[in-house]
Amino acid sequence: MSEFTSIQTLFFSPTGTTKKIARAIARGVAAPTRETSESSIREIDLTHEENPAARIDGRTVTILAAPVYGGHVAPTASRRMEGIHGAGGPAVVVVVYGNRAFEHAAGELAELARRQGFNPIAAAAFVGEHSYSTPSTPIAAGRPDAADLAAAEAFGQSVRRKIDRGTPAPVDASRLKERPTPLVPMLRFIAFAIRYMIRQRRHPGITVPEGDPASCTHCGRCAAICPVQAIPRGDETRTDPSRCIRCCACVKGCPVGARTFHTPFADALARNFSRRKEPVTLL
Ligand SMILES: Cc1cc2nc3c(=O)[nH]c(=O)nc-3n(C[C@H](O)[C@H](O)[C@H](O)COP(=O)(O)O)c2cc1C
Ligand code: SF4
Ligand code: SF4
Repeated sequence: MSEFTSIQTLFFSPTGTTKKIARAIARGVAAPTRETSESSIREIDLTHEENPAARIDGRTVTILAAPVYGGHVAPTASRRMEGIHGAGGPAVVVVVYGNRAFEHAAGELAELARRQGFNPIAAAAFVGEHSYSTPSTPIAAGRPDAADLAAAEAFGQSVRRKIDRGTPAPVDASRLKERPTPLVPMLRFIAFAIRYMIRQRRHPGITVPEGDPASCTHCGRCAAICPVQAIPRGDETRTDPSRCIRCCACVKGCPVGARTFHTPFADALARNFSRRKEPVTLL
């Protein structure tokens, strides 16, 4: 692969969808050659790294991936990526969102990559099951699915071809085109969001996932997978609202379904963003 000798994924991924996409793209970039086989893909998982620091060899191709929160790069991901330096190496900038919209996230992640010394040579937005998705309010449930992963791998192969042509040029990730939402559901969701904001102003308060004391077995899994240590060990039905980022890793990861997150957003998203959105890429 010309002057680039290794491939690396770098991601924050509480519920695992961003990780799946980053890995699939990396598999596409890796070709079964001596220098860069799939087994040579390294991984920096920032999900549980409070203060990561690393300097990446400029001859490494990095797949830099983060989930979208509120139309932006998840703030915890941005903060943790600020400890990583790219030494001029090429980066594939990837945002993963829950089938609503990615808005500013791709442009922001590319800008962050540039500040950290990477050269963003490709960008993409993929869909992952929404963090708030439940069996009764499914939002992009089961994604990324086989078709998404195949698309991610094919995108990785295109990135590889761009690299092999020599001196890959940077892209303007803010030009990545959003998949449109039909007008009626879009307006319905905006009306819901306005009503929600008004209610929040009248009755302020943060809602976070909670544990059910009757079914919790205190296995400790949720505390272990929480990326920000918001669940006290031994008292796992509680959540520290000042730390919780509402990523829902604890809800999806509890083996007995003892943690739930009651948010009206789940129903509003399930009703208005049920039409499948396909990935978008830019090279
Ligand atoms: C607090 C929060 C805000 C989110 N905001 C958005 C959003 O603005 N648009 C969207 O489509 N999905 C949104 N999502 C859904 C995630 O982007 C999506 O589920 C993603 O696949 C999660 O990545 P992970 O599996 O790596 O944690 C949000 C999720 C959370 C927890
Ligand atoms: S993962 Fe579920 S059962 Fe285990 S401690 Fe957490 S809430 Fe309790
Ligand atoms: S307590 Fe909050 S931050 Fe921790 S895993 Fe659950 S939702 Fe995520």
